[in-house]
Amino acid sequence: MSFTAPITLPGLTLDLHWYKRSVFYEVMIRSFVDSNGDGTGDLQGLISRLDYLQWLGVDALWLPPFYQSPLRDGGYDVSDFRAVLPEFGTVDEFRELVTKAHERNMRIVMDYPLNHTSDQHDWFQQSRSDPEGPYGDYYVWSDTDDKYKDIRIIFVDTEESNWTFDPIRRQFFFHRFFSHQPDLNFENPAVREEVANIVRFWMDMGVDGVRLDAIPYLFESEEGNGEGEPPTHEFIKELRSMVDLEYPGRILIAEANQWPREVAAFFGTEEEPECHMAFDFPVMPRIFYSLRSQQSDELVRILSETTDIPDGAGWGVFLRNHDELTLEMVSEEYRQAMYGWYAYDPRMRSNIGIRRRLAPLLDNSRAELELAHAILFSLPGSPFLYYGDEIGMGDNIWLPDRDSSRTPMQWTPDRNAGFSTADPGKLFLPVVQSLVYNYAQINVESQLAQSRSLLHWVRNVIHVRKAHPVFGLGTMRVLSTDHESVLAFVRSYEGSGTHFGDQAEDVLCVFSFAHNPVSVTIDVTGHEGAALYDLFGGGVFPTINEDGTLTLTLGTQSFYWLHIGSAGGRS
Ligand code: GLC
Ligand code: CA
Repeated sequence: MSFTAPITLPGLTLDLHWYKRSVFYEVMIRSFVDSNGDGTGDLQGLISRLDYLQWLGVDALWLPPFYQSPLRDGGYDVSDFRAVLPEFGTVDEFRELVTKAHERNMRIVMDYPLNHTSDQHDWFQQSRSDPEGPYGDYYVWSDTDDKYKDIRIIFVDTEESNWTFDPIRRQFFFHRFFSHQPDLNFENPAVREEVANIVRFWMDMGVDGVRLDAIPYLFESEEGNGEGEPPTHEFIKELRSMVDLEYPGRILIAEANQWPREVAAFFGTEEEPECHMAFDFPVMPRIFYSLRSQQSDELVRILSETTDIPDGAGWGVFLRNHDELTLEMVSEEYRQAMYGWYAYDPRMRSNIGIRRRLAPLLDNSRAELELAHAILFSLPGSPFLYYGDEIGMGDNIWLPDRDSSRTPMQWTPDRNAGFSTADPGKLFLPVVQSLVYNYAQINVESQLAQSRSLLHWVRNVIHVRKAHPVFGLGTMRVLSTDHESVLAFVRSYEGSGTHFGDQAEDVLCVFSFAHNPVSVTIDVTGHEGAALYDLFGGGVFPTINEDGTLTLTLGTQSFYWLHIGSAGGRS
């Protein structure tokens, strides 16, 4: 497959807030392209598809861990933070990836699971065998398993306790995740120093940002619940000042599966910032809830709760990622409803969530896929796509754990979906061959050939978003409507006047979750008499009434993004 040679900019544009306007794409190296036919995706494979990602409109890649690892938790179990897993390539090849991405004005954000290591890590091996040695205090050891009673278990499907007995040291070690993933002891200054040096190691190679995996869990105490305890925030502040001083323009992203106020704490304050970005966990399940309930109220409520965040901080919004669709941020009643709608087969569940991909979740409904993406791309914050969702890839719930949605990317209808030339039996995971999502139908090549494919639609919506800085930089005001299935808000941006193309704009976004056409009246007070036109095709819409109301009709599960002209009909 070839793509027209893109126009590349010399180096990266200097914009300290680049992440606010970026479209991110999570790509698991293992699952994307296998360049040497050994059945596993690798760095050279990813390099070979950078043109595709640039064509799609991706500004930054988020790479889940590719460190040396026994791969018992998809690479989040690291055994050497300074080495690349040999199947994926070498540190030099990673450098090449950074250079080639930068040549395309694309940035690289890498994952850093700093909270824990694999039990295969040399630190742990030394810690368990030599308690008095230099690594003796690198992990959280205890003679009993009854400390930190208030700390919940995260992987409820597999773990019964956060403590596991180590027969070598004859003590218990603490772990928030799998029992083969001991938590590092952040009370130990040597551990904190190691972490800062590992961030330096990768940033020296040109990495533009780091996703701080499982960030709430660094410190634990008898009084707290082990999530976002004060010393954890102190530590992130220190890390941030190091990054600002030594690597200005590089970012930290928080993965904190918590309520808005608690997540917002990871932005720190104006004076003492922590992370530049944080994933928005509460909004995501509510999008799925609204799609089935045909009610927008939960979404309206969570979006109206304005959480003040410091200037320069930004949300990362997403529909799916490499983990289960977590239902931790919804009430028990809503959780049960969502299990009923989206995980009717017990194999679809995992921990407190659903281990399915986007297209199967939405029953492969094109209307729902478009509606969900339209919300994703217009919410405040930067959208994070998950590889394969742009073509509506399926999943395989018969695979264990979260591997269900980590199967090889489907490029062509050829052997192994064009992912690899290996013997199909040798692939790290089988390609999807289900009735609806078989790679013979769902693949990049075939969608490139169909101008009305989901792939072309997603690419178009990305480009429309990017042409309007209001989506990345503007504020949001949720509007009241007279229809329970409709969500409406105005995004507004005053323009900075400093960037070319950084124009001021107001955009009205309207979404209908109803499973039939509706007519709705929206209160757009403040824009009385303003003309409206559609951002996609430029079509002229009815003018907002002099009393600030606007009546629109929307087809089944459809949406509008409308440019709001100035009052009195001028655009
Ligand atoms: C994060 C990752 C997840 C991993 C866990 C433990 O939640 O997203 O994939 O299993 O951390 O490292
Ligand atoms: Ca390979």
